[in-house]
Amino acid sequence: METTIETDERPRVYLETYGCQMNITDSQLVAAVLSRAGFASAARPEDADVILLNTCAIREHAEERVLGRLSDLARLKHRRPELRLGLLGCMAQHNRAALVEKAPYLDLVAGPDAYRRLPEMLGRAGFDAQVDVRLDRAETYGDISPAHDGGVRAYVTVMRGCDKFCAFCVVPYVRGRERSVAPEDVLREVRELAARGVREVVLLGQTVNAYRFGDVDFAALLRRVAAVEGIERVRFTSPHPSDVSDAMIEAMATEPRIQPYLHLPVQSGSNRVLAAMERGYTVERYLELVARLRRAIPGLALSTDIIVGFHGEAERDFEETLALMRAVGYDQAFTFKYSLREHTRAFKLGDTVSEEEKSRRLAEVIALQESISLERNRALLGERFAVLIEGPARRGNGMLAGKTPQFKTAIFASARGLAPGDTVTVRVDDATAHSLACSLV
Ligand code: 5AD
Ligand code: SF4
Repeated sequence: METTIETDERPRVYLETYGCQMNITDSQLVAAVLSRAGFASAARPEDADVILLNTCAIREHAEERVLGRLSDLARLKHRRPELRLGLLGCMAQHNRAALVEKAPYLDLVAGPDAYRRLPEMLGRAGFDAQVDVRLDRAETYGDISPAHDGGVRAYVTVMRGCDKFCAFCVVPYVRGRERSVAPEDVLREVRELAARGVREVVLLGQTVNAYRFGDVDFAALLRRVAAVEGIERVRFTSPHPSDVSDAMIEAMATEPRIQPYLHLPVQSGSNRVLAAMERGYTVERYLELVARLRRAIPGLALSTDIIVGFHGEAERDFEETLALMRAVGYDQAFTFKYSLREHTRAFKLGDTVSEEEKSRRLAEVIALQESISLERNRALLGERFAVLIEGPARRGNGMLAGKTPQFKTAIFASARGLAPGDTVTVRVDDATAHSLACSLV
């Protein structure tokens, strides 16, 4: 028998992703665009003909990490000058052509609305650096299904961009205006995912509940997605407190597939700081909203984002943030030191809180949240939850892991016949601030 060994002549792309879930999903979109155009994927930078970094600009630290990584990769290019090196995403948009001066070995700089044009840009790269940072208020990539990673959970982008312009945030400048994906495109993608074994979808958007396409609002979209056959769980992130509608709460309260968990960024517990941040709500209104959500949705879990050390944040403002964290009792909090970002409204105001003081405040919010998370998780001892199995637990030794409806990680011993995608009932035996040790019932 004759065997022929085929060599794959396609150019190979290595893609590395920084930042939020939206970027991870955008990288899957880029992978789909490039695969369609005849590129193969490389598992390591050493094996690649093209290296692309999909980047984040939300804080200065994120940009510094990427610049460090870039100069490492530049050494590879020094050895192999035909290697193409590109930077995608928010940092590309934020720094634009200036990047090519900072990092002259870059062949390509592409913002979040330029991904459709990547194949032609790569075709031309190598002669002149290709820069495409045009924002396009109509681009939703609605017709492109991102490459799926094979897990039981998938993230589906339903809206892009942001119109809120919070004073600290660079997102509206780097991701452009708010725009929603047509519901037919969302539903097509969700159906494709369900057919490939996905059981849980997370609808994604910078202010996801601002979704609107024609007369389909976010609540209507949630209900349509929840009705797709094969999909057992629906989640979404991140909603903006000002865009929470009665219809959204009603959908969460009445549609059993929509899971009882919300990430509801508050940023600060001081009305003075919230006003300076231009968040569009007060502490009182936020707390009212939390109470309304908890009345309507039993067992609701809440997480949040908090920034410490924003311009003008005095000690008593910071203490109000601690008080708000205690009053709400979040299940989890993502906490950040304020980072001054060029282009934003707060940039010209500068920093008023020293780096040391920011670090002290950050350590304090983290410690407080650890104790609240632990207390809330320990209150669940003995309770039962439905867990969608995702796969082996990270610590291994025969344990399985999955999420409760409240998006808490449950870990339990495997049993014969169980597989990812199955839902089991577990009882909570023990808890840390970050996970629940459970047994099957
Ligand atoms: N500095 C610190 N944190 C920020 N975030 C957004 N912009 C900044 C900034 N300039 C945080 C917010 C947001 C989360 C995604 O990142 O808390 O909700
Ligand atoms: Fe940034 Fe505010 Fe928009 Fe969130 S809502 S992405 S914090 S501008």
